[in-house]
Amino acid sequence: MTSIYGKYIVLTGGSRGIGPIIAEELAKKGAHIALAARSEEGLQSAANHLRQFGVQTMIVTVDLSQTSEQQKLVDSVMERFGQIDILVNNAGLETEGAYLDLSWEVIQKTVEVNLLAPMRLTHLVLPHMLAQGQGHIVNIASVAAKIGAPYAATYCGTKAGLAEWTRGMRLELEGSGVHFSTILPGYINEVGMFAKFNLKSPGLLGSTTPEKVAKAVVKAIEKDKLELFVNSSPARMLSVACEISPALGDRLKQVLGVVEFQRKKVEKR
Ligand SMILES: NC(=O)c1ccc[n+]([C@@H]2O[C@H](COP(=O)([O-])OP(=O)(O)OC[C@H]3O[C@@H](n4cnc5c(N)ncnc54)[C@H](OP(=O)(O)O)[C@@H]3O)[C@@H](O)[C@H]2O)c1
Repeated sequence: MTSIYGKYIVLTGGSRGIGPIIAEELAKKGAHIALAARSEEGLQSAANHLRQFGVQTMIVTVDLSQTSEQQKLVDSVMERFGQIDILVNNAGLETEGAYLDLSWEVIQKTVEVNLLAPMRLTHLVLPHMLAQGQGHIVNIASVAAKIGAPYAATYCGTKAGLAEWTRGMRLELEGSGVHFSTILPGYINEVGMFAKFNLKSPGLLGSTTPEKVAKAVVKAIEKDKLELFVNSSPARMLSVACEISPALGDRLKQVLGVVEFQRKKVEKR
């Protein structure tokens, strides 16, 4: 079991949604945390909240769709903390809508923030982690990585890419001391990108809570888990069906109301 106590962590998407809740869970374990996002106000408020746990915190305002800013994030943390033990790639964008209703700029930005930024940040921190002989990259994907959904195809594509990339990296770096994990949360009703629609997820698809996602991040690090699915079991079974028989998976998506639900979400936009 790997201890989180005293580790230096970079967490993206730390300004709002589930990021601050993940940060709190890690701070309770005694980790020092660098929070990154674009909103200084959101980051400051999340960092102030962490003070009660007596850990070191810092904030870095960055637009993760910009490569120069990704470098700035890693440089700032190395300068202040002197080391990076864990990177939690949590920042993400959801793009809902019929594909042709989305501008190319929106599609490109989604790929940049959801997929390219985690890859690039890993490219930047990996040399430090390999040199110190230990490290962990935790990528927050989504159940969407396993269940390609209509009107969210770009989002699903980035999350599937992130999950498969993580699997490849984990095997490639096996034995190096650097570990890779993916967290696959389902719909979260309380905070974050899904909550803003003010729609309840279909019962059969289930949901989860930000606290369960945060605990999964801790478990992934402490127990070196490859993938943790954080949702109720029907959605898990749907994802298994999608892997075993994609055609059956697509039929089930219709029967379970995924297609209809996605349409409703787009109308609510
Ligand atoms: N909520 C759900 O139901 C759910 C379910 C499954 C998976 N997830 C995943 O969980 C993660 C967090 O989601 P959430 O619900 O907390 O989303 P959220 O409330 O929309 O928060 C997104 C976070 O990402 C940051 N961010 C977005 N664009 C950025 C950019 N260009 N540069 C830097 N930071 C950026 C945002 O900060 P700024 O705006 O301040 O930059 C914010 O901190 C995402 O990867 C998401 O895909 C969420």
